[in-house]
This record gives sequence, structure tokens and C-alpha cells, in this order.
Amino acid sequence: MNISELLEGTGIIPVVVIENASRAVPTAKALLLGGIRTMEITFRTACAADAIRAVAESVPEMLVGAGTVLTVEQAVRAKEAGARFIVSPGYDDHVVAYCVSEGIPVIPGCVTPTEIMRALSRGLTIVKFFPANLYGGLPAIKGLASVFRNIRFVPTGGIGPDDIGTYLSQPYIFAVGGSWLCTSADIAEGNYERITEFARQASASVAHTKQEISNIRITP
Ligand code: 3PG
Repeated sequence: MNISELLEGTGIIPVVVIENASRAVPTAKALLLGGIRTMEITFRTACAADAIRAVAESVPEMLVGAGTVLTVEQAVRAKEAGARFIVSPGYDDHVVAYCVSEGIPVIPGCVTPTEIMRALSRGLTIVKFFPANLYGGLPAIKGLASVFRNIRFVPTGGIGPDDIGTYLSQPYIFAVGGSWLCTSADIAEGNYERITEFARQASASVAHTKQEISNIRITP
């Protein structure tokens, strides 16, 4: 399965940093309650693999992936823990080759034409664009998309709730990523209702944008 088969239409990929694996399941449930069915648990903390395993085993409705995967060793651990997809901040050919050979969907970070061409040469069509706000945001992505017609982007970094519509209304945007839905502070303090509320607002924005797009398409 490729990433587009797995995550098509998802709209938002929350980037989640879990400091204590016991927080992973309640965070996943809080997101689900708010209508978000995907989460990327980052390998920035020692408990990332345990957190992924806990969600994969206890919250099967949640499509859990691994983020900030920098090495093949982390990709292996992520897969063993039950990650359904892998996200990298940059393009590492070893990580991508491993994921492709194992059939695990992967979204590498690509912000230059050269990196995108590497991803294409591995058969990928979805890439992360990170940090989106610093690498030129939507205008930069639009420039790249005009050349790479089959590539879609997941802008992440500096994106907030007010940016969802602007990004998702463009056909070359696959989804947006961000940590604003479940901040480290809210997770650490157990503010799960707040996470659900942010998730609700975000899923409402995704639904609204999809509706607007379909209205534009059917308007003669
Ligand atoms: C990531 O790993 O994609 C970023 O840390 C998310 O960026 P944000 O915190 O600005 O949303």
C-alpha cells in the first residue's frame, strides 16, 4: 500500500511528541473523539516506539505512524511497534529504500527539486515540505508543483488552524501537518478535552474546505 491509498482525504496529520508512553492512548482517543483518525508519533523521545505500540494495540481505529524517523534502525523499530507509515523531516535514501522494500508507506521531507527527484526515482509521489513557513510556504510549493505535476506535498512547520483552508484548497497539497492540535504541554498536563476541541475545529475546517472545493468544481 502506498501513502496515498492509506491517507487519502485525511487532511491533517497531527505531529505528536510523547514524553511518557502512558499518555499515548488517551491522546489518540482524544484526537479520535474530535474526528482526527491519523497521528504521527515522533521519534524525538525515548518512548516513541512504546507509544506507537500502545496506540496500535489499544486504539485500532487510529492510523498511527512514526515521525522524525532519521535512521533505518528507527524505521525498523517503528514498523515492529506497529507504525502504519513513516515520516522523515528530510530525504534519507537508506530510510526510503528500507520503507519501499518493506512496503511501508513513507513521506520523506523534500524542499528542493533535487530532493523531490530522488523521491520520484524511488516511486514516491507524496513528500513532506518542512519547515513550510521558513522554506517559502504555499508560493514555494506552488512553484515546485508547477514542475512536478505528479507530486503532492504535506507542508508542516509553522502551520496553524487558520492555514488549513488556504493549503488544502490547492490540488497539490495532500495534507497539512502540525503540532498545534496536541501540544506537548496539553499532553503532559492531560488536557485531553482541549486536544479533542482542537481536533474538532481542525476536522470541521477540513470538511468545510472539501465542501468548498466540490462547490467550485460543480459550479458551471
Ligand atoms: C514537525 O515535526 O513536522 C514539526 O515539528 C511540526 O511543526 P510545528 O510544531 O510548527 O507544527
